[in-house]
Amino acid sequence: MSLKNKKILLGVTGGIAAYKTPDLVRKLVSKGADVRVVLTESAKEFVSPLSLQAVSGNSIHHDLLDTQAEAAMGHIELAKWADILLIAPATANCMAKLAHGLADDLLSTLYLATTAKVILAPAMNQQMWAATATQQNLKILNSHGVEFLGPDSGEQACGDVGSGRMMEPLEIAEQLESLADHTIQYAGKLSGKHVVITAGPTREALDPVRYITNHSSGKMGYAIAKAAAKAGASVTLISGPVNLTAPSDVKVIDCESAEQMHTAVMKQMQNCDIFIATAAVADYRAAQIESQKIKKNEDELTLTFIKNPDILKDVAALKSPPFTLGFAAETQQVDEYATKKLINKKLDMIAANDVSAADIGFNSDNNALTLLWKDSRQSLPKADKQTLAVSLIDVLVTQYTKKSARN
Ligand code: PMT
Repeated sequence: MSLKNKKILLGVTGGIAAYKTPDLVRKLVSKGADVRVVLTESAKEFVSPLSLQAVSGNSIHHDLLDTQAEAAMGHIELAKWADILLIAPATANCMAKLAHGLADDLLSTLYLATTAKVILAPAMNQQMWAATATQQNLKILNSHGVEFLGPDSGEQACGDVGSGRMMEPLEIAEQLESLADHTIQYAGKLSGKHVVITAGPTREALDPVRYITNHSSGKMGYAIAKAAAKAGASVTLISGPVNLTAPSDVKVIDCESAEQMHTAVMKQMQNCDIFIATAAVADYRAAQIESQKIKKNEDELTLTFIKNPDILKDVAALKSPPFTLGFAAETQQVDEYATKKLINKKLDMIAANDVSAADIGFNSDNNALTLLWKDSRQSLPKADKQTLAVSLIDVLVTQYTKKSARN
């Protein structure tokens, strides 16, 4: 049982579905979890602290400024204690507070202070769920790595019908169990492996003040770096210029041009098990970088470009190459062009990325990929880049393990 001895901090906020939380606590406890409950002020209107205390077997936490409670288990201690912070029901107000980092009560403070996995089971009126502000907060929370269970669709307490009902306690407990299962299985998948990842764009200088580049934000590569580190790998991220911060357990090597990225990657190849090339590397660079700013004296300007080294191809051509996963950003005949790259560059695997759609690919928070390898393929449907990165690592590990067993 994967919830056995799991420390679950259950945050209950003020929605009608709060009356279901004693049942939720019972279900979690029966799966072996140690549950502590944090109630917001308005949640106390919907559910009695005493019933939650009785079913959890632990005293209830509700006040940030309660000196007695702080002396017993202070809020920072509570934040550190938890393996999982589950908030059910999570109201629209709670989502807004968490998305924007407000810390004006115990629960919102715990959210900022914990490193535990955070899972929300939203519950609100269907129109409030559909509201632009709530949907934007959902995106922000997704980008924090928060996972969502539900909401379900159906008849609501207010009489409306639509999406916004809290998922049933039994389903929440079961989903939490399978999430915990996946986390446990996932955690050691790449332990002992060195994964090198390229991310972001490159900048190719024209003169001291100008360069050519592309729209890559680095989000896909950084998400994969985080997912690989979570799977236990030692990760080196070779990054073009981006505005992102990598997790502290990922080693970052910054570079600007394709040639610099090539040098940095090759230096890592003596000890690399898996190479993942998400970077949008410029295929060409200026034949000559002017030492002074180019003047606009003429009506036309012709520059000559020469080919950059192909980092991915050079890695795959090494005498004993790592497992290589390339990306193919295409705007048409996506699978066909990706397959050509898989074969021509002699890769183990390629992620075909349709970058013609505005809501995925370059600079978007979401993406969708088709993974292709010698004898098969797997589609990873549209999801936020962090979720997609975890699915990608799952498939990659299976193929990497198969290849290692063959050699
Ligand atoms: O960074 P984001 O905003 O999150 O966007 C993600 C992304 C769209 C950039 C990413 O998902 C993606 O598709 N990356 C590949 C971009 C690309 O340049 O594709 P390509 O088809 O031109 O190149 C094929 C492969 O060769 C890529 O793995 C690329 O990293 C690699 N390559 C290309 C040229 C070169 N000189 N060296 C290389 O290593």
